[in-house]
Amino acid sequence: MCGIVGYIGDKNPVEVIMAGLHRLEYRGYDSAGVAVVNKDGLDCVKSVGKLKIMDQKLIDHPLVGQVGIGHTRWATHGVPSEVNSHPHFNVAKTIAVVHNGIIENYYELREQLQATGIVFRSQTDTEVIAHLIDKYYQGDLFAAVQRALKDCEGAYAIGVICKDNPDVLVAARHGSPLIVGLGENEGYIGSDVPAIMKYTRNVIYIENGQVCEITRKGVRIEDIDGNPVTMEVKVVEWDDAAAEKDGYPHFMLKEINQQAAVLRNTLAGRVDDHSDAVRLTDMNISLDELKSCNKIFIVACGTAWHAGMVGKFLIEKFAKVPVELDLASEFRYRDPIIPPHSIMIPVSQSGETADTLEAIRIAKSRGAQVAAIVNAVGSSVARESHGVVYQQAGPEIGVASTKAYTSQCMAFALFAIWLAETRGVMDKATAREMIAHLRAIPGKVEEILKDHEKVKELAARPEYRDAVGCFYLGRNVNFPSALEGALKLKEISYIHAEGYAAGEMKHGPIALVTDTFPVVCVAVKGDTYDKMVSNIQEIAARKGLILSVATVGDTSIQAHSKDVIYIPECFEAFSPMLVAVPLQLLAYYIAVNRGCDVDQPRNLAKSVTVE
Ligand code: AGP
Repeated sequence: MCGIVGYIGDKNPVEVIMAGLHRLEYRGYDSAGVAVVNKDGLDCVKSVGKLKIMDQKLIDHPLVGQVGIGHTRWATHGVPSEVNSHPHFNVAKTIAVVHNGIIENYYELREQLQATGIVFRSQTDTEVIAHLIDKYYQGDLFAAVQRALKDCEGAYAIGVICKDNPDVLVAARHGSPLIVGLGENEGYIGSDVPAIMKYTRNVIYIENGQVCEITRKGVRIEDIDGNPVTMEVKVVEWDDAAAEKDGYPHFMLKEINQQAAVLRNTLAGRVDDHSDAVRLTDMNISLDELKSCNKIFIVACGTAWHAGMVGKFLIEKFAKVPVELDLASEFRYRDPIIPPHSIMIPVSQSGETADTLEAIRIAKSRGAQVAAIVNAVGSSVARESHGVVYQQAGPEIGVASTKAYTSQCMAFALFAIWLAETRGVMDKATAREMIAHLRAIPGKVEEILKDHEKVKELAARPEYRDAVGCFYLGRNVNFPSALEGALKLKEISYIHAEGYAAGEMKHGPIALVTDTFPVVCVAVKGDTYDKMVSNIQEIAARKGLILSVATVGDTSIQAHSKDVIYIPECFEAFSPMLVAVPLQLLAYYIAVNRGCDVDQPRNLAKSVTVE
């Protein structure tokens, strides 16, 4: 998730753009760039790292112009570097583009453009847009952008300027947010309201498939096929703080609600649209290594370790390769035996967790091929691993991990299918069926998010809100769901919660069950559903306070539960991505009802970079 800003008018574009980028820094901050059109043509300054570095560079190299675009980056393709930072240009550097999103077919487009002799400067997907616009440019920048975007598949919000069209700023969106701001003889574009609300509160929320031409006189909007569109100008009422959270009260709730889009992003560019073949090229694991691999180690901490447990289940179920799952803080001290042809998969949202980094170093020193699942591009985990699957989830600001967890589960599902097919233990038809199940997950997450009022109502009930302790129970692939649900509640509401394998209750923990001790039971339809119901009955017989998470249509579960949260039917192995959402919302609303600091809980840090 990146931030884009653009301006055309009589103010200094660089001042407007940098103010806007600072307001968007929460969307990503590994590199930045600004380009302007002035009487000498296109001028540009780029930087790596936080925006304050860019501020300094602009003092050393002032930019002046009449129209400009800027970008703060959260890298998805290509490590953070000046050459990969936006804006990107055509060969002659007469056209500049900033982009937020993922061009899913960029690989094919890049090859087609290279075949015409174009030499690319960067590793990014965005650069293809600049060369495509140039390919179709015949003096009308708006028309060239409209035509170029017809070749692109995937998500984009772009800003475009051109040396030969100094009185025009062009923008477009599909799948990534974009707004146009209107002022007196001036116009703005931004990824979010915070970017421009210092200058204008008159905004147009651009919709998918729309292309805009912004001049000092106003804005012209057409759809990608050239049909004129009239959009309503809205007046923004938010204050600044609310705007960064898109109007949500907390980053955590915003990030919970981003999960459908994030899961689509994690899938983006990883599955061939025609053959459904999984493509995880950045993992840098050869097909021979995948075929000869006889053991996989998954190592992580906290929520990432719960995702790793889901990963273990999926890899063993689909690819029949034995998986050893370790907490990084334990792995590094147990003198692990790592046989030849082992693969290690460290999992980390921040990519800076000290224990996970140390585990990587130990595994590498003992000959393992290390391929990380990580969110932060260019982070230490990414750099120290041989290969990587970037989660493409965008920055996660809330300390309690939500969208990072579900996107890690999605990444593991892709890897497990890819490994199974490569090793010949999953046929093409089954693999396509699995991919179809994965593609259906984001829509199911959207259904859950739309229907969150029930969870919000439960969270206000004293028996949950004021509980002194509780269990979360699950079996099989939803045992990690129970662990993750308990961690969410613990870390933001400060209620002691324990995740347990449901079959373990009779081995001691059931002694704690009373009628004031909530037990959250993950009882979705699947292989161990009947066993789970037996466990629930054992607790009900002891007057336990049962809150079940069940599959929509399962009315029988109500007989054994005080309350039921329903989720859509889904392929059981992928259900942790659905089960996580109501449990995140339950923890969130209970914590809010208890007056806790949801985004920055006591004693915690977003990234544990110390041991
Ligand atoms: C999860 O909600 C916590 N914030 C914490 O357990 C976190 O998952 C853990 O510290 C691992 O962080 P990482 O994914 O950045 O390595």
